[in-house]
Amino acid sequence: MKKLFAVIGDPIRHSMSPIMHNDLFSSYQIDATYLPFQVKKEDLRDAVKGLKAIGAKGFNVTVPHKTAIIPFLDEVDDLAASIGAVNTVVNENGRLKGYNTDGPGFLKGLQIYIPSAAGKKIVIIGAGGAARAIYFTLAKESPFMIDIANRTIEKAKALIDDCPFPVSSAAYSLEDAEKNLGNYDLVIQTTLIGMAPEVEEQPLDLSHLKKQSHVCDIIYNPLETKFLRSAVSSGANVQNGIDMFVYQGALAFEKWTGIFPDVERMRENVLKQLGGSRC
Ligand code: ATR
Repeated sequence: MKKLFAVIGDPIRHSMSPIMHNDLFSSYQIDATYLPFQVKKEDLRDAVKGLKAIGAKGFNVTVPHKTAIIPFLDEVDDLAASIGAVNTVVNENGRLKGYNTDGPGFLKGLQIYIPSAAGKKIVIIGAGGAARAIYFTLAKESPFMIDIANRTIEKAKALIDDCPFPVSSAAYSLEDAEKNLGNYDLVIQTTLIGMAPEVEEQPLDLSHLKKQSHVCDIIYNPLETKFLRSAVSSGANVQNGIDMFVYQGALAFEKWTGIFPDVERMRENVLKQLGGSRC
């Protein structure tokens, strides 16, 4: 019987996960299909119960359900539990187990350019869900420090207080971070500022950036945000959000099938959908 996989979120119309995973299933000759389902917040419990009842083998979870889904799962792995967010669910013999592949997906993408985050001076811009997954994942990689810069400094402080892994961190306003950018080897932009259609916005000015620093923006639409364009002008190396997106999907696919898929194929497929080329 054809295996069912899914992604649930609201909105879900623009998700590229179905195209990416369906292409992988056919290329590995796995008899499975991956469908998007729009699920409203108030229907989340029923949707999870329904997916379990019909024997879905696994599914992804996206905005706004990544945290709210946790009480409806049978089990949550340690990293996802500490992050407090699940983006991948595996049906393990009738038990639904939640994982977070967003942070590890970011790390794998980063490692294309920076093999190890050990000893690196890092600043994360933003203190929302994506920042949290990336922060907790990188905290385990022995960086020199990971500072958090956010519009609301209290949220940056709360994020630092929540981190279960030992790491040197300080919270900054965006204005203070802007002045101190020269301190960092790695700058990671995790807010939605600059995402289409608001492409002329950026969270902070990058003129104080250290030359040869590595600057990541987790946005991939557009492929080159205003933030990344400014980083290039300041002499930095840049990376857009495609790698994180593709690797979080690859890690989910591996959990469902035991196969770590062809990431280049996934990247090409996603770029084709976005109608662009690699940044
Ligand atoms: P996600 O889960 O995708 O990370 P989120 O939890 O809504 O999204 O977090 C959004 C992040 O973008 C937060 O860091 C938010 O800053 P606040 O904590 O101050 O709200 C940041 N953000 C959103 N709009 C912003 C804006 N106009 N200027 C600066 N930061 C903004």
